[in-house]
Amino acid sequence: MDQPAPGALSAKSAATADSEVLVVLVGDDGVIADDRSVDAGTRGLLEAAYDAMIRTGPMKAPVTIPAPDGLAAELVVLSRVTGSADDEALRAACGAAFQHIGHARSAAVPLPEQSQRAVMEGALLGNYRYNRYLDAPRAEDRSGTDRIDFLTGRTPTKALRTMLAQAQATAAGVNLARDMVNAPPNKLYPSEMASLARATFKDSEVDVKVWGPKELRRGGYGGLTAVGQGSRRGPRLIRLRYAPKGATTSLAFVGKGITFDSGGLSLKGAKPMEWMKSDLGGAAAVMGAVMAIAARQLPVNVTGWLCAAENMPDGGAQRPSDVITIRGGRTVEVLNTDAEGRLVLADGLTRAAEDDPDLIVDVATLTGASMVALGSRVAGVMGQEETRDAVVHCATEAGESAWAMPLPDELRATLDSEVADIANIGGPNGGMLSAAVFLREFVPQQAWAHVDMAGPGWNSGSSHGYTPKGGTGWGVRTLLQVAIDNS
Ligand code: BES
Ligand code: MN
Ligand code: ZN
Repeated sequence: MDQPAPGALSAKSAATADSEVLVVLVGDDGVIADDRSVDAGTRGLLEAAYDAMIRTGPMKAPVTIPAPDGLAAELVVLSRVTGSADDEALRAACGAAFQHIGHARSAAVPLPEQSQRAVMEGALLGNYRYNRYLDAPRAEDRSGTDRIDFLTGRTPTKALRTMLAQAQATAAGVNLARDMVNAPPNKLYPSEMASLARATFKDSEVDVKVWGPKELRRGGYGGLTAVGQGSRRGPRLIRLRYAPKGATTSLAFVGKGITFDSGGLSLKGAKPMEWMKSDLGGAAAVMGAVMAIAARQLPVNVTGWLCAAENMPDGGAQRPSDVITIRGGRTVEVLNTDAEGRLVLADGLTRAAEDDPDLIVDVATLTGASMVALGSRVAGVMGQEETRDAVVHCATEAGESAWAMPLPDELRATLDSEVADIANIGGPNGGMLSAAVFLREFVPQQAWAHVDMAGPGWNSGSSHGYTPKGGTGWGVRTLLQVAIDNS
């Protein structure tokens, strides 16, 4: 969409790269770069500049300084790597440098000896901007870096070229998801999400199929239908199918795609409604992941299901105490129309399970309770123990924070209904868990994990590391890693 991934490999070094900006990562032991991308003399100059910078106190955020004499670049952005210089620390430090740059024509990043892909990812993720609705001068001021060169100081190896392609695939997927979450809800509604999916995968191996309101009604998709019926913009179920030749394992990713969550007749207050354009973060993660998986040509079948609806309170809206029928025949008493995510996911999970994949992962900005439990940067993962732990492992591996949470059986009783098979809200405690217990009812037998990403999907604080304000694209890298681990 908005952001092409502007990275390239260059045989130049920190001394010879004639970019506007040279980005330099500094850890406890000095400049982090291999000897070819930063020669000893240049390293000395940069470390002297850094030592001067911190004479009056530690460096808390990236700093721009004039380039020391002898370098071809005009400016140097110094960025501190905190703690152990592992992949995620380098990704964050490099991302922070690129978030710090307002606008630059070009920037160069000397590559380290290890973690090269993480550095590339950090740059491409930190360089994300959402400019679409700014006037031209403001957009220009905040357009990030037009071109990024990753410096190797020698002819780039094939391994590095592969890493760059992988980093670009990841960043393109994450940045697509960020664009979707940041899109205003009057611009990105369910039918637009379908158009976006069609446009995104037009010239790719990914097949896109869309169910509209009529087909959903006829197909018995009572959850999507009920949630969508209070809006003039009807619901859509969008299937993204990537099926490379020879793949034997099949994965299904199901995403909550509420393009705006007003709460419906159980209307939210003004404050909590403010960021509810972000309620499609799960669907955005699924779409971004499918894009990255297809770009990397991973040998695994992946079907993405985007459950898209707008939760609005017009005269046709569902009422608290309506009884609806989910695809497959189970009935739900809707006691609170603001617990809408689980209704659209119930349809999506049921449909995904009909293809009998080897693994189902659903991703959703499902409950405020998940933020009470885990704060705003950590997702909760529930499901069968083994599957749950595998997904947590994938998240950690990819640099996204997630934590395993239980599915206590006793919570099922809190969802009992007098008039239907199940109610859509449980008791006052453990709201993240009872939502997951609800979803479990709609997965017949497959390996399944549910990811509640209400916290990390949206950054309402200031930017940090490679994470901008607003849509974070959280989940893309976890799902991509699930596909990698299964291929
Ligand atoms: N989309 C919200 C959950 C949410 C809250 C996401 C805050 C991101 C930030 C979801 O549809 C919702 O409204 N959940 C209710 C459930 C309740 C009515 C059982 C909630 O968490 O309050
Ligand atoms: Mn809601
Ligand atoms: Zn919601």
